[in-house]
Amino acid sequence: MQAPTPDLVPEGARQIRTAVVIPAAGRGVRLGPGAPKALRALGGTPMLVHAVRAMAASRAVSLVVVVAPPDGAPEVRHLLDEYPLPGRTDIRVVPGGATRQESVGLGIAALPEDVDVVLVHDAARPLVPVDTVDSVIAAVRDGAPAVVPALPLADTVKQVQPRPDGAAEPVVGTPERALLRAVQTPQGFDRNTLAEAHRSVAVDGEGATDDAGMVERLGIPVVVVPGHEEAFKVTRPLDLVLAEAVLARRRATDGYV
Ligand code: CTP
Ligand code: MG
Repeated sequence: MQAPTPDLVPEGARQIRTAVVIPAAGRGVRLGPGAPKALRALGGTPMLVHAVRAMAASRAVSLVVVVAPPDGAPEVRHLLDEYPLPGRTDIRVVPGGATRQESVGLGIAALPEDVDVVLVHDAARPLVPVDTVDSVIAAVRDGAPAVVPALPLADTVKQVQPRPDGAAEPVVGTPERALLRAVQTPQGFDRNTLAEAHRSVAVDGEGATDDAGMVERLGIPVVVVPGHEEAFKVTRPLDLVLAEAVLARRRATDGYV
């Protein structure tokens, strides 16, 4: 048993336990035909393996729950066994659902009792730096019930009235860009806050794309910490080109595998 890190353990208290839920059950429709997105290779290694390693790189993380495609849990378990982690982080694999919200809910349901802090991290953000992970965890441990990493926007955003079939869409408004943030993952939560949000917010249509948004609906405050450019989500084919370039640079300069 590893000695607890002294600064995290007040006298007489047990160590705060932090786990990560990684939703990886999506198909990756916008990336185009092929294997489920999380299982596609980035620099020869499955995207999911990069994402798991990025979470395990944080010393605070003791458990990662991977939410696999609904019929793919045995395959994902087998795959992860081929890429063992160097440290002491445990990995559990559970089958996911039809929406991201359902998949995250199934991951939360698989968390052991003694987990206090939960991060939710997209498998599709394989290159998030450990400093971003650590700053999210630190903010939750400092008492914030919900924390999201976020960046200012480069583009101006318009609100429109959606029209079918590619018809020109009327612009309804232009929110002030300086007040907007693009949010990333890992998002971090006090475990009870996240569980309550997933219990009480119904899945509607495609479900929530962001867990912090569900917490907001409970009227619980959410705070932002600085995100990172390299925490971008691999969504479309061009994102894979960028991810390969970031990976190649890391491998050349800092020995990243
Ligand atoms: N996700 C999930 N279960 C689903 C849908 C999505 O676990 N039913 C996960 C994805 O695997 C991904 C994360 O949620 O790691 C973010 O979703 P997104 O980027 O939209 O991925 P996909 O849904 O796979 O992509 P697309 O929307 O293009 O099909
Ligand atoms: Mg999706």
